[in-house]
Amino acid sequence: MDANPHPMRRPHRLKLGLFSMNADGGLTLTRVPERWAATWDDIAAVARMADEAGLDFLLPIARWKGFGGEMNSREWSFETLTFAAALAGITRRIAVFSTVHVPMLHPVFAAKALATVDHASHGRAGLNIVCGWNPEEFELFGLEMIKDRYAQGLEWFEIMSRIYTEDAPFDYEGRFYSLKNVSGKPRPVQQPRPVTLNAAFSPEGRDFAAKAADYLFTTFTEVEKGRETIADMRARAAGEGREVGVYTTCHVVCRPTRAEAEDYYDHYSRAMADEASLDIYTAGKQKHSGSHEADAYRLYRQRFAAGGGTYPLVGTPEDIAAELERIAAAGFEGTTLSFVNFRDELPFFLERVMPLLTDAGLRQGNLSDA
Ligand SMILES: Cc1cc2nc3c(=O)[nH]c(=O)nc-3n(C[C@H](O)[C@H](O)[C@H](O)COP(=O)(O)O)c2cc1C
Repeated sequence: MDANPHPMRRPHRLKLGLFSMNADGGLTLTRVPERWAATWDDIAAVARMADEAGLDFLLPIARWKGFGGEMNSREWSFETLTFAAALAGITRRIAVFSTVHVPMLHPVFAAKALATVDHASHGRAGLNIVCGWNPEEFELFGLEMIKDRYAQGLEWFEIMSRIYTEDAPFDYEGRFYSLKNVSGKPRPVQQPRPVTLNAAFSPEGRDFAAKAADYLFTTFTEVEKGRETIADMRARAAGEGREVGVYTTCHVVCRPTRAEAEDYYDHYSRAMADEASLDIYTAGKQKHSGSHEADAYRLYRQRFAAGGGTYPLVGTPEDIAAELERIAAAGFEGTTLSFVNFRDELPFFLERVMPLLTDAGLRQGNLSDA
């Protein structure tokens, strides 16, 4: 094995990272006063904490509009390539992802920006390639949200890949891009390119991942259903002669007792949910995105207020470790974690859940101590 592998390629059986720390509310749509404000100093403190504890990755969300309602959550969000560059400078071991909306960012620019992050982080960059699902965000850029967004994504990815690998400048004639004399240096530290992920649930999204991503991040409503997604993704990747690891995405409320965890969960995501925003968010997702199983919106509305429709990990440290064991046993290679307030809540998770994961064989202790 590479002496200094990318953090996503370390030997932990279940990789863990923090998701959506760059945006207000994190993944929640709640009105509680302690909701994540995403100030830079809080983000920096949590990034350092995660790095020192040996977590594997930091994944920002790419958002250009808020979700209305009372809080207009996510209107405040830091741009993700500059975000990753800044975090690279204050962390040592953790992967720093950027999340790029294909239609909003030109691939020639993105290739150079990502290479910059990869150099500044000594090979810890990663790219989440998303094709967009919110028409309002497209309008903000004067763009129309087209149907075959993933076809554009593939051209975008091909251009970036060729910039990183070809010796001579090239012309590109595609459906979406017509470019002359394309080249760019430096190449990234990671060869042939930084690790990529794609977040999708739809068949089109999975096919895109099979061609362009090292990891698919996907949702499920119940852990066992995740097995089907993993098998399907493996088959699609094999069809391309590739392997794609499948990760999932969770939100966490971890407390000393189950009652405390459940009470707080209901408090922030039911009693104090931003209902108007929740209506806007779930209607928009249902109409324009295939990101969840069809039943999810009807059966699990609370999960959308609690963590953007990701899977809930609510309970004691033992409950949460047991649930993460089930997720790993289903075949997921890792998960994102989000909290109502990352800075207040991450320390308890690190102190109490991480040792249980090591005992369960899902983690190999803090490799950054090595
Ligand atoms: C872990 C994760 C991260 C995502 N990050 C973003 C993001 O930052 N910005 C965005 O517009 N969509 C994001 N999405 C949504 C996806 O890019 C995609 O639009 C959605 O999963 C629907 O894709 P599909 O219709 O191919 O299934 C994310 C989804 C997941 C599961």
